[in-house]
Amino acid sequence: MMFLSAPLAVAAVAIIASAAPYTPSGGLGTNSTPPEYHPLSDFDFQSLSLALYQEYIELDLFHHGLAQFSESDFDAAGLNAEDRYLIQFMADQEVGHATLISNMLGQDKAAKQCSYSYPFQSVRDFVDFCQKLTRFGESGVYGFLEHLNARDSATLLLESITTEARQQMIFRQFEGLFPMPEWFIPGITQSMAWTLLAPYITSCPENNTHLAWQNFPALQISNNPNATNTNGPAITHNLSTPLSAPGRTVNLTWEEPGKQVGPDGAYNTSTTAGQAKYVAWISQLNTTYTDLTITGNYSGSTVQPGGDIFGNNTFPTINGTIFIVVTDDNPYVTPFNLTMLNTHVVAGPAMYQSG
Ligand SMILES: *[C@@H]1O[C@H](CO)[C@@H](O)[C@H](O)[C@H]1NC(C)=O
Ligand SMILES: *[C@@H]1O[C@H](CO)[C@@H](O)[C@H](O)[C@H]1NC(C)=O
Ligand SMILES: *[C@@H]1O[C@H](CO)[C@@H](O)[C@H](O)[C@H]1NC(C)=O
Ligand SMILES: *[C@@H]1O[C@H](CO)[C@@H](O)[C@H](O)[C@H]1NC(C)=O
Ligand SMILES: *[C@@H]1O[C@H](CO)[C@@H](O)[C@H](O)[C@H]1NC(C)=O
Ligand SMILES: *[C@@H]1O[C@H](CO)[C@@H](O)[C@H](O)[C@H]1NC(C)=O
Ligand SMILES: *[C@@H]1O[C@H](CO)[C@@H](O)[C@H](O)[C@H]1NC(C)=O
Ligand SMILES: *[C@@H]1O[C@H](CO)[C@@H](O)[C@H](O)[C@H]1NC(C)=O
Ligand SMILES: *[C@@H]1O[C@H](CO)[C@@H](O)[C@H](O)[C@H]1NC(C)=O
Ligand SMILES: *[C@@H]1O[C@H](CO)[C@@H](O)[C@H](O)[C@H]1NC(C)=O
Repeated sequence: MMFLSAPLAVAAVAIIASAAPYTPSGGLGTNSTPPEYHPLSDFDFQSLSLALYQEYIELDLFHHGLAQFSESDFDAAGLNAEDRYLIQFMADQEVGHATLISNMLGQDKAAKQCSYSYPFQSVRDFVDFCQKLTRFGESGVYGFLEHLNARDSATLLLESITTEARQQMIFRQFEGLFPMPEWFIPGITQSMAWTLLAPYITSCPENNTHLAWQNFPALQISNNPNATNTNGPAITHNLSTPLSAPGRTVNLTWEEPGKQVGPDGAYNTSTTAGQAKYVAWISQLNTTYTDLTITGNYSGSTVQPGGDIFGNNTFPTINGTIFIVVTDDNPYVTPFNLTMLNTHVVAGPAMYQSG
């Protein structure tokens, strides 16, 4: 109101007066505009299809873990029959999420379930993998929600991702970690999420949606803090020794571009970046850069940064399960324009287990 000249302000007051009771002016679609609940652009279609690929792997993963390990394996990891039922229930939630997104995309255009391969051989590593995978599923959606044309669909998708956020926290509790050592959950770009997801998909139905997003070369952390080696499940734990701290050396190796990845090898890794110079730490609301010391053609090391999210003595910016990316430059980016980082990605992301 204070921006308006006097006559306009009078007109605005008149509009407010005719709006529904107790309804301030502004907002969009508040007048019972019918929702459409379908993609309004290629961007929407590809973003929702990426989310659908993610829901399908979670559905498969939770069933797979329950089938791969025996009841006594789970018991030995401190997870009893009721805990196993909770994992089963999470799989059921994924059926619901996949149905929702398929309905929005249209059953004939929606991608179908694929086949997968997983890197774990123990219950604890399964739980850790679930904790990391649900985090990139969650962050992958937060990164694009605000850019969708279809705002009604964005909200329904968010209403599924909030349950995914609860799953992520429960897997942390199954590991005996502090359940949520952050004030904000970071978003990542679609290409970053697809880079993390694609390597676990081995094969898809022949005509499944081909995703438009980029696959960056893979990034590995040789000395990622190991979250599985703790005291067993707990609602919450103060870790007497934090998993990591600022000043810790982090060693990285990455792949050259041009490798076939993803379902049926149908995707190739690529980069448009120049020489590797920095590591971007995408955590909470912040993207923080550290210098990369090159130690080989596809390897280097860096140092975990400090910094508090709103300045001194607020809360550490780097904490929880976060994303690191090797870049050729250190442009300032915000949660709203993180996509501007894509052209600077040499490799990654990898998921750093900072806390
Ligand atoms: C793939 O083909 C089948 C059989 O023709 C069809 O039912 C399905 O909708 C197609 N899927 C996609 C994603 O186009
Ligand atoms: C963590 O350490 C345990 C042994 O303490 C090992 O079995 C497990 O594979 C490690 N997990 C990861 C993800 O490296
Ligand atoms: C848990 O950690 C917090 C923060 O460091 C500390 O204030 C609190 O005393 C700790 N509580 C227990 C029971 O260890
Ligand atoms: C991360 O948060 C946990 C829980 O508040 C805390 O114990 C830990 O010290 C934090 N890590 C860092 C690196 O500050
Ligand atoms: C990390 O790299 C540094 C410097 O290259 C090296 O001294 C150290 O041994 C490496 N640590 C691990 C765990 O690989
Ligand atoms: C991937 O690379 C191979 C050979 O380098 C090429 O034949 C294929 O068309 C590429 N695929 C995509 C999806 O770019
Ligand atoms: C990098 O690659 C070149 C050519 O393949 C090789 O000669 C050189 O020794 C490598 N450098 C390092 C540090 O590994
Ligand atoms: C993190 O981002 C917030 C919000 O943009 C900003 O206020 C804060 O200064 C940043 N903190 C650091 C350590 O960069
Ligand atoms: C943060 O602490 C440092 C060192 O104690 C001090 O130099 C700086 O002015 C403080 N910054 C803010 C924003 O309070
Ligand atoms: C991202 O947005 C911020 C805030 O608008 C702007 O200062 C920054 O230059 C942008 N970064 C890039 C790489 O465009």
